[in-house]
Amino acid sequence: MEKCKISSISFPLKIMIVIAAAAASSHSQVHIIPTTLEGPFEPKTRSFDPSLRRGSDDLPMDHPRLTKNVTSNFPEQIALALSTPTSIWISWLTGNIYIYIYTHTHTFPFAVFKYLNYLIFFALWDAQIGVNVTAVDPSSVASEAWYGKQSGKYDAKSSGVSVIYNQLYPFEGLWNYTSPIIHHVRIHGLEPETTYYYKCGDSSLSAMSEELVFETLPLPGSRKYPSRIAVVGDLGLTSNSTTTIDHLITNDPSMILMVGDMCYANQYLTTGGKGASCYSCEFPDAPIRETYQPRWDGWGRFMQPLTSRVPMMVIEGNHEIEPQVGSNTFISYKTRFSVPSKESGSNSNLYYSFDAGGIHFIMLGAYVDYNQTGAQYAWLKKDLEKVDRDTTPWLVAAWHPPWYNSYSSHYQEFECMRLQMEPLLYQHGVDIVFSGHVHAYERMNRVYNYTLDSCGPVHITVGDGGNIEKVDIDHADEPGKCPSADDNVPEFGGVCHMNFSFGPAKDKFCWDRQPEWSAYRESSFGHGILEVVNSTHALWTWHRNQDIYQEQSYGDQIYIVRQPEICSIGSKGNKVLPTSLPPSLAATLRDPLLGCLLCYVAFLIQAFRIWEMVTTEFFLLWLC
Ligand SMILES: [Fe+2]
Repeated sequence: MEKCKISSISFPLKIMIVIAAAAASSHSQVHIIPTTLEGPFEPKTRSFDPSLRRGSDDLPMDHPRLTKNVTSNFPEQIALALSTPTSIWISWLTGNIYIYIYTHTHTFPFAVFKYLNYLIFFALWDAQIGVNVTAVDPSSVASEAWYGKQSGKYDAKSSGVSVIYNQLYPFEGLWNYTSPIIHHVRIHGLEPETTYYYKCGDSSLSAMSEELVFETLPLPGSRKYPSRIAVVGDLGLTSNSTTTIDHLITNDPSMILMVGDMCYANQYLTTGGKGASCYSCEFPDAPIRETYQPRWDGWGRFMQPLTSRVPMMVIEGNHEIEPQVGSNTFISYKTRFSVPSKESGSNSNLYYSFDAGGIHFIMLGAYVDYNQTGAQYAWLKKDLEKVDRDTTPWLVAAWHPPWYNSYSSHYQEFECMRLQMEPLLYQHGVDIVFSGHVHAYERMNRVYNYTLDSCGPVHITVGDGGNIEKVDIDHADEPGKCPSADDNVPEFGGVCHMNFSFGPAKDKFCWDRQPEWSAYRESSFGHGILEVVNSTHALWTWHRNQDIYQEQSYGDQIYIVRQPEICSIGSKGNKVLPTSLPPSLAATLRDPLLGCLLCYVAFLIQAFRIWEMVTTEFFLLWLC
């Protein structure tokens, strides 16, 4: 670094710098972002702000953000998903279908009405729902995507598949559903960090979308990362959900991680406040909870302004199970979303992996066999063994229900999954785990097996997207808030609730204070942004919905720092790049002039503080 030429600065300029530095020191707070290296942190709770809404109603189906704004077979609900580093999935839906609203046969005594007893209302819509539904022919509309690097010039075309699905409830009083046509096309040969323009649809029907645009991510490699990764869970489709998504869009993400529980179709018109207040009372003979599938179509339209230009990677939550007749589950999730399962060697859309720049993502299924004897575990083991940390230094995992959670809601709910899978993830040095399910925010200290561990992952819960079920505010460590043994039974898998066998909560199910593994928790809606800056540093920021109109305001922020030099990793490769500082800071410090000036200003600030403690005369003497 070039030597600082302090002595060459004139005396008046020295005085001005001193005054400016002193003013900066005394009138502004320098925000220092903490790092995980300073952890474990003392547990901190920020309680729910009672001036905020704990929840809000679902948006109605005729809300402008949910209604269909194209006609006939033109594409809608357009969404992108990553496939491989050089290919992307484009998905969309087409078709005008109808609603048949059912009424009970015995309410119509006249024979002529027997022909109409299933049909009392007929409206143009994009999904068919009622007692008698007839699936459309998916081959009636083709699946094409045109794309290129210049606007209006599409020098590549790809074709894909068209599919439909049915959601069937053949029980008194419930409605069946058959979907519009769902299209999936994979486009290949994409260059990294490049802007592409595209259209999708069926050119033979003159039904192509307007031109849309997206930017590809960097190729796998230790020096390049997606700019900003948005992480959101339990989003739903309420007015809180719209705030979350509007806020998320202002943070300009380059990809989205959606950690489950998306549109809450099983709450709308059932127990969601708009329909039956008691589902089992209203439909005593129905063995399955009905879902209102047109909510998925509304959700697809609601998300399109974002998902048609930014890839969204989804993993299923319990609200995607949607059981129907024949023990079929996850049908809507599996049919509507393209995920890189085959690309990552998985035989199921319920778990998969992918790379985005220097990050390897693992998306795990909590509602499919996670035991060590099962297919998911075998796939996970194989996938982890293939990870090359020289190419993808960061290993980020996501699944829906959190393993570490100090809220009363879902407390210890997925202990069985944790017991089965945690050692494998720890052995391979997973850096960060994102989950949802709990409708609040919580960031954990690095932890493994409920023990503080500087090589354990940072678990973060962001199930605070804004769905109709309200924000969670109770903590299991508060008096009277510890769940009973019958609470929090998972919708899949066994119950492995346990009393702690060691530590401050030994022999107890709940702690008597915020657990030491819980670093920060707050009951508020919001979303997170992950900015990986190099092979060791990533900036995590949790944005609260109430901060949407305030710049530089957020609920939680920390640098997550990897330490591969001290944490042994089971995956291949373990090289540490020379700089452990975020690139922007490292570049600043490497710049001779700027670095010199910073040193000088810092020196002057410190000097000014000393001067305040001594005397003016002494300071002037020192300057001269
Ligand atoms: Fe959930």
